[in-house]
Amino acid sequence: MPRLEVELAGLRLRNPTVLASGVLGLSAGLAKRVEEAGAGAFTTKTVTREPRRGYPNPTFVVLEHGYLNAVGLANPGIDYFCRELREMRQRLSIPIILSAGGGSAEELVEVAKRGVECGAQAVELNVSCPHVSGMGVELGHRAEEVASAVGEIKRLGVPVFVKLSVHHDYIRLAEACLDAGASGFTAINTVRGMAIDIYARKPVLSNVYGGYSGRAIKPIAVRVVYELYEAFPDAPIIGVGGVDGWEAALEFILAGASAVGVGSEIARKDLGLFKEILEGLEEYMEREGFNSIEELVGLAHRS
Ligand SMILES: Cc1cc2nc3c(=O)[nH]c(=O)nc-3n(C[C@H](O)[C@H](O)[C@H](O)COP(=O)(O)O)c2cc1C
Repeated sequence: MPRLEVELAGLRLRNPTVLASGVLGLSAGLAKRVEEAGAGAFTTKTVTREPRRGYPNPTFVVLEHGYLNAVGLANPGIDYFCRELREMRQRLSIPIILSAGGGSAEELVEVAKRGVECGAQAVELNVSCPHVSGMGVELGHRAEEVASAVGEIKRLGVPVFVKLSVHHDYIRLAEACLDAGASGFTAINTVRGMAIDIYARKPVLSNVYGGYSGRAIKPIAVRVVYELYEAFPDAPIIGVGGVDGWEAALEFILAGASAVGVGSEIARKDLGLFKEILEGLEEYMEREGFNSIEELVGLAHRS
């Protein structure tokens, strides 16, 4: 039988699938269902220092080829979320990655510290959400500030991933973060977009702009993963964007991802998507003569 286990910056994953941030990531009950569905690791929704209400509805639109959302990083704040993290840690055996958000390096560090105290086994810095002013992409443009947060969080002794966006000079940001001790990257976050209601003659989302996700962004995400692997072949990457089955997951792995995030396509396929990906990967590996996922990582660069 081919081996699906992978190593991701020191974390042992039973397989390369990871629940992407923001999708089912706020409660221990849902986290348990994600584990039972087969995921190799679990990323929480982005949590900030203070609670955030998020934006009024509509916040999610299903489009022909993808999804547009502007939830506005709604979350209960790290103090409250700590209880949930503790319960997650008790109930789950897969690694829990805390997605930390904030408007400054200081805030990211505070959230990460509290989260690690409460059981998170890795931290992902969301410096790439495209629709919340003062944080997300805006913070990601300040590479030195993000790098300083990475340096501090690294001292907590857990892997630190930086979540990147196409709206950044992501190679420069990645380099600054690696110099500061980042363990790896998650690529990509949603792409800034909007939709207009032609009868109301105004933007559909209450926030006007949102993040575009799903199958339509997959070629963009694969390209970013490919470029990151080319530039930093030793830095592990979680490839995210439009994974809707095993073929898409495999594209990311061949581009250089050690693990693959699964996000909005769960809305269409339900949690059964994890099993579908794992079974497909296993069959492919048997058919094509590969013994482990690790043999496939970055293979598209060698052809
Ligand atoms: C409804 C929704 C909420 C999201 N919330 C977050 C979030 O809180 N933090 C984050 O880093 N990414 C968030 N994302 C982005 C996803 O983690 C992922 O990077 C992006 O959607 C691309 O992957 P996908 O096409 O598989 O969804 C969210 C995406 C969606 C659709």
